[in-house]
This record gives sequence, structure tokens and C-alpha cells, in this order.
Amino acid sequence: WKAFFTRCESRGQTPFPYSHSKLFGFLQSGLEARLSLGSLKSQVSALSVLFQRRIATKPQLKESLYVETSMYCNERGLAVTPQGGNTSLVGGSVPVFDEILISTALMDQVISFDDVSGALVCQAGCVLESLNQYLGERGYTMPLDLGAKGSCHIGGNLATNAGGLRLLRYGSLRGTVLGLEAVLPDGSVLDCLNSLRKDNTGYDLKQLFIGSEGTLGIITALSILCPRKPSAVNVALLGCEHFSKVLQVFTLCRDQLGEILSACEFMDSESMRMVQTHLKLINPLPDNAFYVLVETSGSCGKHDEEKLNIFLEKAIDSGFVTSGTVATNQGKIMSLWALRERITEALALDGYVFKYDLSMPVEKLYALVEETRARVGSSALGVVGYGHLGDGNLHLNITAKSHTDTLLSALEPFVYEWTSKHHGSISAEHGLGFKKRDHIYYSKSRGAVHIMQQLKQMLDPKGIMNPYKTIPPAD
Ligand code: FAD
Ligand code: MLT
Ligand code: ZN
Repeated sequence: WKAFFTRCESRGQTPFPYSHSKLFGFLQSGLEARLSLGSLKSQVSALSVLFQRRIATKPQLKESLYVETSMYCNERGLAVTPQGGNTSLVGGSVPVFDEILISTALMDQVISFDDVSGALVCQAGCVLESLNQYLGERGYTMPLDLGAKGSCHIGGNLATNAGGLRLLRYGSLRGTVLGLEAVLPDGSVLDCLNSLRKDNTGYDLKQLFIGSEGTLGIITALSILCPRKPSAVNVALLGCEHFSKVLQVFTLCRDQLGEILSACEFMDSESMRMVQTHLKLINPLPDNAFYVLVETSGSCGKHDEEKLNIFLEKAIDSGFVTSGTVATNQGKIMSLWALRERITEALALDGYVFKYDLSMPVEKLYALVEETRARVGSSALGVVGYGHLGDGNLHLNITAKSHTDTLLSALEPFVYEWTSKHHGSISAEHGLGFKKRDHIYYSKSRGAVHIMQQLKQMLDPKGIMNPYKTIPPAD
């Protein structure tokens, strides 16, 4: 809270708490005098008039609205939180104190698509699934996919540098995004919206905005390189009795499936229990300690099936897998994917969830889950491990009846220290947002964070952009 007030004061602003119960509790203990609710309320209503006027006069929303809003907020020192689909898992997209929320929901137009190069140019508020549908009709696909595809915006995906289910095949957004346009806090427009695959003229400024979580400006449009839609897709769900076998399956996948491998995900028996219990999904295999979901995508069905069969034979003969099932039709493919993609949803139905998104050397992934399980014992309802095996990305989730400080102190700093000790990252793909901001030092040196603070200061000198998220304040 102290940091919060300091940040407000440095923007020349007093805070406007409207939703945070803890803050209200804190304010009741004697700090009311510092607030000027009236003045901020009138700022917010002036802004909403500005929005309504602009939307009414310009139904085809352009970045100009963001320019005006940024200028307005910058002049008055008003904090701003950009919001896309609001699917952030680290509290990045929600205003927690006095921030004004700026949504990209109405910026949902495709600007152009080049069906020779596969370069798609679109506004930031396009929903990922809608883009995929648009491209599918033209024989292309988006280079990223994630469970939240029906809600998340492509601008939000860039702002978080989302990884997802096909990073193994198509690489990170840092490679597939060709250009972007962003409105900076002072209302100026940074135009880096080109669609070139090669461009070595100076610093690559778009990279600063990829993964910046709304702290440097609002991404309003982008250009992204899309691959051809694969005409043949197969999915196999395999059961393994030990995590060492999961690793052997992964190695065999890379060896045997090579260029057609498009996803390699894993989940443990606890993850399976969650989707069975809360979503009534059916496990087509006998109970196993671990499950690996392997997807192949290519352009020749017969060739891919042959490769997959050889892989499966080897996996069974070598004793890596104890059971398995293969899907080639769309319905079964989707039901196998649901077992993996819907774990997040099932966990939320189990109780309060402590979520960790970690990357580390792949052979270490499950040791952390086992140690955590032993550590928390019966104080947790479930200790669940799943993730993007191919990317060395573990999602460790601990569910409990409710949030307790005792459980929290059993988990933190233990999980972060363990990850740091094994040279991992404490946020592989979800970002830091509000929840993990102050843990940045487990994965970044003081020197690196200092440069981030300087970059933020340069682009956002008044500190209005998502001020309580991602980058901790300078000491
Ligand atoms: P929001 O949640 O609205 O915002 C996220 C952050 O980006 C915030 O800090 C916000 O301020 C900022 N932001 C949003 N839009 C802009 C903009 N236009 N300009 C500047 N800043 C902006 N993540 C993964 O990486 N991989 C997964 O596999 C994955 N699976 C998920 C599955 C489920 C079921 C859920 C609920 C979430 C999952 N996520 C995953 C997390 C989340 O979906 C991603 O982080 C996603 O990229 C967020 O997009 P969004 O549009 O919802 O952004
Ligand atoms: C996933 O891979 O399912 C997501 O990143 C969401 C999560 O971690 O729960
Ligand atoms: Zn994930």
C-alpha cells in the first residue's frame, strides 16, 4: 500500500479506490484524508463522455480514440490498465486500485491478409479464435493456440507474449510477430507495423512491447506471419506409469515424428481427476500416473499416419507407454484436447487455486510437483502438475478450500527458490502482472530490472501505464 501511494503521488495524483476490499480496510485505518474521490470521479466521467462521443461519431473505432485517451490520462496523471479478453492468470488486466480500464474489445477488424506470404494485419482486439476461423477459410492458421482462445485478444496475446499449445511447432510470438503499432502514454503513435520477414534497420522496437503487459503503451494493431493450415492432423493420448517414461516418450516423439510434431503436452493423474470430477470428461484410457498428448500436423495424411504408427509401436515395444488411443477425426481430436485444455477450468471449480507457471530443464519438471505435494500434505485439496512438455513449461497448481496464509507460506518462497536454484523462470508464459511482480528478482538480475525501470521511465515518464504491474518500482 505504501508503494501504491508513493506511485500515485509521483504521478501527481491521489488514489481512487473503488473495488479493492483490502484497500478499503487499510483506508479505514486512518488514511482517508489522502483521498480526493470527488476529483477523480469527475475525471472518470469526463473520460466516459469522451469515449461515448468518439464511439458515436466514429463507429469504426481507430487508434485515435486511444491517442486522445492516453493524452487525457497523461496530462492528468491518471493510471490506465489496458484490457483485452481479460483472461490473464496473474491479475495483469484488472484495475486493482485507481486505474482507468481501457478495453480493446471494439478494435476487432482484420486490416489485410496476404495469401501469398501469410502475413495477417489486424487490430489488437480481434479474438484469437475468430482470427483462426478467418484464416481457416483461406487455408491458413494462427501460429498460436491456447485454452482461452474463445476470449483472449491477439493484442493481449502479444502483451503477455503468450506461449500456448503449439509453441513447439511455430515458435514464440517474438518470432512470428512481424510488426506492431502502439499508442504511447503521451498519445504519440509508434508505427512499427511492417510485414517484412527481414528488417535489420536498427533496434527491433516491437520486441519491447511483446511481453510488456500494458506497462509501456497500448498495442492497437499488429502484423503476424501465419503458417498454412495443416490438412492432416492426428492426436494420440498415451498413458505412462512414471515421469521418466514421459521424458522417454518426448525424446521418441522428436526422433520419430520430427517435422510433423505440433504439440507435446503432459498431465498427471491429479489433472485427469480434476477434469473427470468437475467437468465430467471421460478418460478413454485406464488410470495412469501420467498422460502425454501428442499431436502431429502435416500435409499428407497417409505419410503422417505411417510415421505416427511407427512411433506408437516403438513407444509400446520399449515399455514407455502402458496404454494409448489415437484420434484422426475432428470430434475425437477435440475430446482428447479437452482433457488437457480444460484443466484450468476444472481447477477453478475445485476451490481456491495457487497457480505457478514455471520453466526449467525438462527432466526436473515433475520433481517440484512431488516435493510440493510432500510439503503441503493434507492442507491442500490437490497438487496438480501439467504443462507444455515440449517447452519445459510446468503448470503447478495447488487447490484448497480457501486461501490461507499457512498454505501460502508453505508454497512461497519455496516454489520460487526451487525454480531459481534450478535456473528456471518463475513465469514461463503468463507474465508477472499484479500477483508476481515482486518475484521478478528470482529470474532477473538487479541490473536487468534496473534497465527495465529506465526503459519504462523513458517511455512512460509519468508512470501511468499499468503502474502496479510487472515492473517493481525502483528502490
Ligand atoms: P488480458 O488478460 O486482457 O491482458 C493481459 C495483459 O496484457 C494485461 O497486463 C493487460 O494490461 C495487457 N494488455 C492487454 N491488451 C493489451 C494491449 N492491446 N496493449 C497493451 N497491453 C495489453 N497463456 C499462455 O501463455 N499459454 C496458455 O496456454 C494459456 N492458456 C490459458 C487457458 C485458460 C483457460 C486461461 C483462462 C488463460 C490461459 N492463458 C494462457 C493466459 C491468458 O489467456 C494469456 O495471457 C492471454 O495472452 C491474455 O490475453 P487477453 O486478451 O485475455 O489479455
Ligand atoms: C495452460 O497451459 O493450460 C495454461 O497456461 C493455463 C494454466 O496454466 O492453467
Ligand atoms: Zn500453459
